[in-house]
Amino acid sequence: GTSGAFCDWTAAEEPAPNGPVSTTTRSMTVMPAWVIDKYGSNEALRFTKNAGFPVINYPNEVIVRVHSAGLNPLDVRMRDGYGSASLSMKRDPLNIKSSSEFPLILGRDVSGVIMECGLDVKYFREWDEVWAAIPPWKQGSLAEFVVLSANEVSHKPKSMSHREAAAVPYAASTAWSALVNTGGLSKDNCAKKRILILGGSGGVGTFAIQMLKAWGAHVTVTCSQNAELFVRGLGADHVVDYTAGPVEEPLGALEKFDLILDNVGGDTERWALTLLKPWCGAKFVTLVTPFLQNTDRLGIADGMMQNAATVATKALKHLVKGVHYRWGFFVPSGPVLDEIREMVDAGQIRTVVEDTFCFSQVPEAFEKMEKGHARGKTVVQISK
Ligand SMILES: NC(=O)c1ccc[n+]([C@@H]2O[C@H](COP(=O)([O-])OP(=O)(O)OC[C@H]3O[C@@H](n4cnc5c(N)ncnc54)[C@H](OP(=O)(O)O)[C@@H]3O)[C@@H](O)[C@H]2O)c1
Repeated sequence: GTSGAFCDWTAAEEPAPNGPVSTTTRSMTVMPAWVIDKYGSNEALRFTKNAGFPVINYPNEVIVRVHSAGLNPLDVRMRDGYGSASLSMKRDPLNIKSSSEFPLILGRDVSGVIMECGLDVKYFREWDEVWAAIPPWKQGSLAEFVVLSANEVSHKPKSMSHREAAAVPYAASTAWSALVNTGGLSKDNCAKKRILILGGSGGVGTFAIQMLKAWGAHVTVTCSQNAELFVRGLGADHVVDYTAGPVEEPLGALEKFDLILDNVGGDTERWALTLLKPWCGAKFVTLVTPFLQNTDRLGIADGMMQNAATVATKALKHLVKGVHYRWGFFVPSGPVLDEIREMVDAGQIRTVVEDTFCFSQVPEAFEKMEKGHARGKTVVQISK
């Protein structure tokens, strides 16, 4: 990555048929974007100057000029085809022009400027600086422009640059949804609560630590030994190194927890629920679920039945032992981003941009994501 650098995407191969890109959107029909035309490895990523320009089809929509786009592990998985069955069903035929989802634009995080507002949009005006987490069934932010519903968008924190702001929405909204909506935590009920975050050094973990510390919880985190100082710097009170051996042993020696946020998955469910305080309403919230795999594999109807059966069986199995088992999900929400902005502007949440790539380096940014071991977020600079 090239920290803070901008690159010239005009170096790419395709000629622009309509001349240079202007700042007014209304006359434009195409835009530069990275697209995929089929699912696959990094070779599937293609730069084009002729991606379809987003159109306002509903009066509550806005068009955002993308300054910076943030990447998430989901982008790599979607490039590979993950979620295609369920996401295709959710896709809006008015916004994805053909019956196929291709050419598909990835990128879930955006920080940019409103260029155009639908007639019903009251809360935003042209030139407002905004950020958003883009739902996975919509065209993404690895493009010069993106169309979103106004209720998915929020004014970006003034204290952050676009580059920093693009590193926040998807991971922070997911942390919020898991902790607040699914976990029942809030700034008013966290004091004295003991929280365990399995996997604290990545995108979701870094925001979860900061939110919980701002709300007064005691936070224990698992991560690699070389991430210990990093998560302590974000506020973690106690750190357990998972590379030193099975974490269930050192964690089992600690006082029990009120809530566990699982960003790791795998075999954690076998042992982690025994670390919760029984019969106290304690919850295990996992973000690593087979939800989309099931619908990809079995189709929507059977996949949803399988999901309901799996989560009900697991919830019941743990309920008889006095603890709650839940699946957490990303939820797109402008109002939640408004709350996160207040925490940012109050100095309670900062962003950790691990790597910045320019628009011509999107394949390199995906390669970086694929290597794993994130320490914060990866951002692509789209325009100045
Ligand atoms: N359900 C949803 O809607 C939803 C939404 C967002 C994210 N997620 C899922 O949540 C997970 C976390 O997302 P993210 O964006 O935070 O990912 P990320 O940025 O890639 O971070 C993952 C972090 O976990 C660390 N890690 C790996 N194995 C670990 C282990 N066994 N114990 C502790 N730490 C470990 C990694 O570093 P090291 O490998 O160096 O230790 C890395 O720092 C992903 O599986 C993602 O798919 C789900």
